[in-house]
Amino acid sequence: MSTTSPTDRDDAARAVLRRNDRGGFTVPNGRVYPFQWNWDSAFVALGFATFDLDRAWRELETLFEGQWEDGMVPHIVFRAPAEGYYPGPEAWGIQRQPLTSGISQPPVAATAARVLHDLSAGDAARIRALFPKLFASHRWWHEIRDPDGTGLVTMVHPWESGRDNSPDWDEPLSHVVPSVDVAHLRKDLGHVDATQRPTHDFYNRVMTLVEEAKALAWDGVSVARTLSFRVCDLGIQSILLRADRDLLKLAVELGFSTEATALRDWIARSETAMQRLKGADGLYRSLDLRSGRLSEAVTCAAFLPLYARTASREDALALKEYLAATRAVAGFSVASTDPRDRRFDATRYWRGPVWLMMNRMIADGLSGYGLTEEAATLRQDSGELVRRNGFWEYFDPRNGAGCGGPDFSWTAAMWLSWSGSPSAAQALTAL
Ligand code: DGY
Repeated sequence: MSTTSPTDRDDAARAVLRRNDRGGFTVPNGRVYPFQWNWDSAFVALGFATFDLDRAWRELETLFEGQWEDGMVPHIVFRAPAEGYYPGPEAWGIQRQPLTSGISQPPVAATAARVLHDLSAGDAARIRALFPKLFASHRWWHEIRDPDGTGLVTMVHPWESGRDNSPDWDEPLSHVVPSVDVAHLRKDLGHVDATQRPTHDFYNRVMTLVEEAKALAWDGVSVARTLSFRVCDLGIQSILLRADRDLLKLAVELGFSTEATALRDWIARSETAMQRLKGADGLYRSLDLRSGRLSEAVTCAAFLPLYARTASREDALALKEYLAATRAVAGFSVASTDPRDRRFDATRYWRGPVWLMMNRMIADGLSGYGLTEEAATLRQDSGELVRRNGFWEYFDPRNGAGCGGPDFSWTAAMWLSWSGSPSAAQALTAL
């Protein structure tokens, strides 16, 4: 176990963010992910906010410089050339500046912006400038990615979920017929052990989806209606609903009344539709929109309806039981796949490991339902993982070993703003 004192660890966390800062935007990890990623930036902003609020705002502002005209905030903004990553800008083939990918990621930004605004002591200039862009990104999800107004938004690529390699996508991805072989182009295996990363077959299928979207010239509605992978991700659905609520608070406070009306409608629609994501055992899952089938596995996303404040009291109690049962098996919480499931893999990307920013959203959800003891346990587990091993991308739930990339920005940010603070009350703020 490391002997670093809490203050040294705080310094080390700030140093990770400073080192990964490329001038107004932060790379998740300089080697594995050398560009700006969408939801990473939103979490990273919370870390910067503990010591440099101006820099925290900048992180969101630079992310939105990559926003498309239709409102989409891409999952990667390729702000400056960098070696060592595939698929880089040429693989996406999108001609715009700054260069971007063509898919999105879970919309945490409005929630992060609401937190930054709460810390901004009445100075509303930055949130006023950002609000229309945040709103346009929510409109994109609710209109372009839900063209029939069902209340369930579509994701068209596993990377949009941020939980790239989750067993949630095994079934829907099995119906994508690979048309490319990209194994030789991969760079991630030069940085991270192959047992901790997705397989070649996964890469071939997901890059096939990129080719399908290219053939549609990345037209938003055509992509949403026709790509051969179309899933309602429980993660995106819940994170969006929560972010809608945060954006609505901002809209009311700032006097954006038309936008507030639209947000209320979207929230009502999503709340009703969430019921379709509930399995027979009472736990929520992702929905394959092509087959109409719920995913089989129960993953860490199952807790996110708490974060969205859309779960019932009974749902919350069922999740409390479920958390206790899986923690008893896995050691550290929350394993990204149920450790009793045959698909559980303790160290492979999103098939077992623990992620700190996921824990933070889950803990926020648990506290929202009065499950404060469970929330405190998650904060403790998350702090312990960093104390033992440092700021890794993810952790083996059995023994806490660090996996993926070291010196990871969002892990440092979660330490600073949440799990490293002396008490829950002193954590930056509830999300
Ligand atoms: C990767 O390259 O593994 C990323 O997670 C895609 O966003």
